[in-house]
Amino acid sequence: PRVVVLISGNGSNLQALLDAQQHEELGGGEIVAVVANKADAYGLKRARDAGVDAVALPHREYDSREAFDAALIKVIDRHEPHLVVLAGFMRILTPAFVDHYRGRMLNIHPSLLPAYQGLDTHRRALADGVSEHGVSVHFVTEELDGGPVVIQAVVKVEPEQDLDALIEKVHAREHLIYPIAVRWFLEGRIKLSADGKVTLDNMP
Ligand code: GRF
Repeated sequence: PRVVVLISGNGSNLQALLDAQQHEELGGGEIVAVVANKADAYGLKRARDAGVDAVALPHREYDSREAFDAALIKVIDRHEPHLVVLAGFMRILTPAFVDHYRGRMLNIHPSLLPAYQGLDTHRRALADGVSEHGVSVHFVTEELDGGPVVIQAVVKVEPEQDLDALIEKVHAREHLIYPIAVRWFLEGRIKLSADGKVTLDNMP
């Protein structure tokens, strides 16, 4: 199965997926293209280094969100992907885009959803004095960071927890769970049902 990954920056989650593919741990999935909305996204280099088609589609060159998303759909659909993976893609998507990939688009968000949707999750969690924080992979729906959760990893927050150390811990968990979620999807184990829930099949 073919996978297209969308990024905006560093692409360490993309790297985790590329590594999983190389180790044949991605459910037979092949990352066929990486698309970034910023030409200088470091993840584009990671893609090229792995021999994957790397496309820069700068959103600034489009007059509207609708025009950008329409162009993005064209680029993505050239590859006829079974799955679209958002890996640090920092763009709000139009309803038309979300609808086009319904049930076949995943996102990773650095919080234990539904807690801390949106930006700056780590700092907000620390400020609230939470004892647990973490990361979620979810199906993408119209609600920003609000789609049904596929898998989460929990990180314990220590007393006097340092922010950067927390971010690093969460990031390490991201790299663990995203390839698992992608593999499960490509193996047909997780699906988004018509009523917007995640269903599990053939789980071990
Ligand atoms: C990650 O923290 C991810 O959860 C968030 O954006 C960040 C992307 O990091 N959505 P990277 O580009 O994969 O290193």
